[in-house]
Amino acid sequence: EDGLNGWLRYARIQGANGYHNKLPSAIVTLNATEGSPVYTAGQELSQGISGIFGKEVEVDSGDARKSSPRDSTATVGTVSAYLNGNPDAAAGLPELVDDGFYLTVSRGKVLILGQNERGALYGAFHYLSLLAQGNASDFTLTSNPDAPIRWVNQWDNMQDGGTHGSVERGYGGDSIFFWDGKVRDDLTRAAQYARLLASIGLNAVVVNNVNADVKTLTPENMDGLARIADVFRPYGVQLGVSLNFAAPQTLGGLASFDPLDETVVNWWQGITDALYERIPDMAGYLVKANSEGQPGPMTYNRTLADGANMFAHTLKPHGGIILFRAFVYDHRTLNQTLNWKADRANAAGDYFDGLDDKFEDNVVIQIKYGPIDFQVREPVSPLFSHLVKTPTAMELQISQEYLGQQAHLVYLAPMWKEILDFDFRVDGKASRTSDILNGKRFNRKLGGYAGVVNVGTNTTWLGSHLAMSNLYAYGRLAWDPSSSSEGMLTEWIKMTFSDDKKVIDVITKMSMASWPAYENYTGNLGIQTLTDILLGHYGPNPASQDGNPWGQWTRADADTIGMDRTVWNGTGFAGQYPPEIAAMYETIETTPDNLLLWFHHVPYTQVLKSGKTVIQHFYDAHYDGSAVAQTFPQLWETLRGRVDDERFDHVLYRLVYQAGHSLVWRDSINEFYFNKSGIADAKGRVGNH
Ligand code: GCU
Repeated sequence: EDGLNGWLRYARIQGANGYHNKLPSAIVTLNATEGSPVYTAGQELSQGISGIFGKEVEVDSGDARKSSPRDSTATVGTVSAYLNGNPDAAAGLPELVDDGFYLTVSRGKVLILGQNERGALYGAFHYLSLLAQGNASDFTLTSNPDAPIRWVNQWDNMQDGGTHGSVERGYGGDSIFFWDGKVRDDLTRAAQYARLLASIGLNAVVVNNVNADVKTLTPENMDGLARIADVFRPYGVQLGVSLNFAAPQTLGGLASFDPLDETVVNWWQGITDALYERIPDMAGYLVKANSEGQPGPMTYNRTLADGANMFAHTLKPHGGIILFRAFVYDHRTLNQTLNWKADRANAAGDYFDGLDDKFEDNVVIQIKYGPIDFQVREPVSPLFSHLVKTPTAMELQISQEYLGQQAHLVYLAPMWKEILDFDFRVDGKASRTSDILNGKRFNRKLGGYAGVVNVGTNTTWLGSHLAMSNLYAYGRLAWDPSSSSEGMLTEWIKMTFSDDKKVIDVITKMSMASWPAYENYTGNLGIQTLTDILLGHYGPNPASQDGNPWGQWTRADADTIGMDRTVWNGTGFAGQYPPEIAAMYETIETTPDNLLLWFHHVPYTQVLKSGKTVIQHFYDAHYDGSAVAQTFPQLWETLRGRVDDERFDHVLYRLVYQAGHSLVWRDSINEFYFNKSGIADAKGRVGNH
């Protein structure tokens, strides 16, 4: 079995016939025009009930008056369409926000109402997810999204043949959108992708790489983007576009791309109008500027706010928003050997300093969870606590760039939850990251999440069946950050594989152990993922971290290791946090062990809170982590025959590989630090060949 349907398989469940009298016998969609999300909801309900239970139910697009009295009807539509037919029903309905839904099930009589069409579709998917897990009991639920921005970023290149293939940091094949500089003719996969995203509440996809190709904006390619938007629309998924700041010059032939130059502004207005003419419901833009060699406003001595606002103005008449990335740093000016205080982690805080009240109200700053770059562990970016007036969105990476590139199982929800639950203590008050993102803490309307997903043409989407739990959890957390890591996993396993308890137990056990294990064998104590910095970010290469301008330094020498980011003696980064947190990270005593080397430069013999020295912790953790990875193939073997052969073999192959590669990691890292420090492993395992 391939993985194209992901968790939306609607596979027949055990004892399906026994459920029939609890299921609707008719489906009515309210005011649904073909291709609208409500229409899709009707189709999904019918297909789902047929697949899961073998009961055929027809869809009738009628109005509420005719249909609601019937006992076993599933009615789906927007609140306003429903009230049209039942004005008296308003009193019984809860408060919904955009995309929210109300769902009530009572012995086959089902009512699914969305605040908008998309919400109605989300309600239908929610009902189906329960049915797919064998739950057809009566209940009533009101569900509103925690944050309005629940976007996906795809780093897809227009043209094949780039250094990293056609999806940057994509490990699941080529782009499903682009080929040979154009939008693909066949967009079947794009529609299937939108369906998966809608089922977990994700509402927009930026389809092209943040390192944006100006060719995206030729008239022919704008027509192509409109075709993508057309296949997204039935699922309520909006399209967004990444822009290259220099396009007015490189594509438009203008003399400059200065954001304050009127001809430049007019050029962008023309582009924006041309896009909205084709895609009236376009979500907006994503911009990476002045980072890693990309052009930006600073080229003309303008601020990042000048740059972001230029796009904001062009979007405003169309109701669009711009996500402007905070991932701004200049690798050409970072020089570690000359400057103990140089620190890439400081860059975002420095560049956005003083800009909080300078942005238009349709600008959202998109900030990676950590100040460096998707490492196995980073402190949460302090910029989330600096921007009070300006809405922010958190950038997470589902694509496992530094985290094993889908060849290693690493279930990321536990890491994301630690980040989302982190309390910044702004002004001495509770200030959880998730409450900053959803706008509650600083009273903002916009905000939310951007996930770099990078699916490709591979029939597993991400290159690995098990990696799809990360996409599932991303959507669920963006909707409700209080969802539990294990709870999301159980749902996903039941829908993707089966409700066999053994299958649930084994996949849960492996997944929940996977992030701690990966941290242990690739980079513990906050030293970052000790991967190869220059070549693909894969496999161990601790030597490559230092001595280059990329700023992911460890400053390891014969006696000491770690980045001194204190205010009193280091780069000052700790001081970017609000006072209580800054004080915690400023001293070794109060810094948690798992971030010790992120914030402090210490001898290898430094004793941790655990009582071990730093170097002995390295040795032990690498052995412990790889020992866990080596249990995965045996655990998976116990599921032989309980999972279809095709998926069983595909997963087994990767787990065997991971078990072996974890040994490579263990030995490379341990030997490297043994050779550097000359300190023996107390257990005699390292340097002993
Ligand atoms: C990382 C990644 C790049 C990407 C960049 C970004 O550095 O390796 O491929 O372009 O992040 O997020 O802009």
